[in-house]
Amino acid sequence: MIRETLEKLSKEAAEQINEALAKENALEMLERIRVLYFGRKGKITELLKDVGKLSQAERPEAGSLVNQVKKSIEASLESAIQGAKKRKRESRLKSERLDVTLPGKSPKIGSLHPLTQIERDISAIFARFGFSVVRGPEVETDWYNFESLNIPKDHPSRDMQDTIYISNDLLLRTHTSPVQIRVMQQVKPPLRILCPGAVYRHDFDASHSPMFHQIEGLLVDEEVTFGDLKGVLGFFAREFFHESKVRFRPSFFPFTEPSAEMDIQCFICHGKGCVVCKQSGWMEILGCGMVDPSVFKHVGYDAERYQGFAFGIGIERPAMLKLGIPDIRLFFDNDVRFLRQFQ
Ligand code: DAH
Repeated sequence: MIRETLEKLSKEAAEQINEALAKENALEMLERIRVLYFGRKGKITELLKDVGKLSQAERPEAGSLVNQVKKSIEASLESAIQGAKKRKRESRLKSERLDVTLPGKSPKIGSLHPLTQIERDISAIFARFGFSVVRGPEVETDWYNFESLNIPKDHPSRDMQDTIYISNDLLLRTHTSPVQIRVMQQVKPPLRILCPGAVYRHDFDASHSPMFHQIEGLLVDEEVTFGDLKGVLGFFAREFFHESKVRFRPSFFPFTEPSAEMDIQCFICHGKGCVVCKQSGWMEILGCGMVDPSVFKHVGYDAERYQGFAFGIGIERPAMLKLGIPDIRLFFDNDVRFLRQFQ
């Protein structure tokens, strides 16, 4: 009788274990089977209790039969649990597998803005003559921007139409020339400086931006002549534009006397005349001149002993000419498709 029951039980258990193993939640199912057979009210537990109630004579045999079945179910349950655990671990490892041979994500590397590149190229040329780079504030006082540079009160550049004022006395510098004054106030001659930076004017079209850039140059020493100015600026033109023909036209700036503008022969048509140079054969590059003694007086330099030359180069125009950029606004739109071309 008990033999039959036990046989049925082992068969049942074996089937249940097999079924459980096929399920997604095999471990959970197997735990339920364990309780079903070996729990406090489990089928084997109950049988063992029944054995206790048998007579002394029947007990040993029945007991050993139940124990055999118990051990065999326990063993197959245990191996099923181990198998299910292994399978679970393997499937997790598979789903979390890392392919270390996949290419990494390459970081997007930025690049210098074309105007920064041009500024550095220009600075590097003047550095060979011993010019060092100095920067000044973009918000200036009327005195530094105009007065100290000998620009009279009624000068047209002081007009609200041209200058962006912050208050009566404060403004956005309209040129980099005030940096000359700031440096001369602090340093005794001789000096050779280059002052790059942003400047501001009320102006906006394809060739004018309300914010643009200049590089101011200043050299002060004893026995400086206009010949030195021509030599240094001619060298710059050759190095930067690879164009050796330059010309100096008389001009006027309040802070230099005499003043001039330097043109280079058009490096597109080499003087024949084209659209870029508007058929003139020349390109206007910079303003320059010998420092006016009245500027020296403003900073306490001895105008009898020292002379100097100064120049102001706009950065955008040479950059547009050299890089073939048709519209100044492209520099400031920050369109990466434009900027990437100059990486
Ligand atoms: N500051 C002038 C301007 O913005 C440029 C300039 C001309 C600077 C002649 C100079 C110079 O130092 O000597 O138009």
